[in-house]
Amino acid sequence: MKYQEILQEIHEEIKPFKGEGQIATYIPELATVDPDKYGICLHCFDGQEYTLGDYEEKFSIQSISKVLTLSLAVSKIGERIWERVDVEPSGDPFNSLVQLEYEQGIPRNPLINSGAIVVADILVSILDDPKEDFLKFIRSICGNESINFNPKVAASEKATGFRNAALANMLKSFDNIKNDVDTVLDFYFHQCSLEMTCQELSRTFLLFANHGTQYGGTEQILPRRLGKRINAIMQTCGFYDEAGEFSFRVGLPGKSGVGGGIAAIYPQQYSVAVWSPRLNPKGNSVLGMKSLELLTTKTGYSIF
Ligand code: DON
Repeated sequence: MKYQEILQEIHEEIKPFKGEGQIATYIPELATVDPDKYGICLHCFDGQEYTLGDYEEKFSIQSISKVLTLSLAVSKIGERIWERVDVEPSGDPFNSLVQLEYEQGIPRNPLINSGAIVVADILVSILDDPKEDFLKFIRSICGNESINFNPKVAASEKATGFRNAALANMLKSFDNIKNDVDTVLDFYFHQCSLEMTCQELSRTFLLFANHGTQYGGTEQILPRRLGKRINAIMQTCGFYDEAGEFSFRVGLPGKSGVGGGIAAIYPQQYSVAVWSPRLNPKGNSVLGMKSLELLTTKTGYSIF
């Protein structure tokens, strides 16, 4: 497959849509990013990497981190996690509160904010030094020691995170948060502030394309059956109330973040990460979605 040519074609064909969408401003620090950045990196199973644009520039991965915290939690406690968080699409915005009350404090899935806050609570309970141990986990999967949080983004989120505080307190009222609410939120805000490049993200997500085995190595980070579960959750819940649309248009398991990143995988073939900060009204990158739709159209391959 001529992936480099395909990436060039995609870059040409998305040009008419360049000004569409808005950068996320509800986290003030995210509003400082150049909205016209664009990068993409595709990493194949044969070891080849195909890249274009700002693929070496760090950006805030935001909710993409939810897949990574979920992976660390399931690698530690296995299937017991589903007692505290469900695996159904929510059909609601990522920060919605409504379902949580009538569903008795059990979040619909681990990739919406309420579910990710429960996963954060689990990690705070089981890790000795939660933030450092999480960083170590990502660095070892990606093979890159430079990966870090952005303290400014974490602080900016904390200062404006009233909805997340509401979700955490609601979860606590149903006894689905076991630790101090502020400690859990501090971890959650830091995980969202994680900065990675498209290249680092695609290398990291190779784990999910490879049924739980890390990039360039042989270590089985996740048992195969849990890798399958995480891919299924990405497919059904990775884009909030646009998960159906992403499946329909792209047809790959993936996850978005309000920093404008999207990571997706084609099992046993490749992982891909794309970054473009302008978002559609549902909080997903406009050019990111278009790029991946063109990728599966042009290659003729998706999981469907
Ligand atoms: O909790 C928040 O609002 C952000 N830290 C993460 C939201 C996010 O990335 C949703 N993604 N599309």
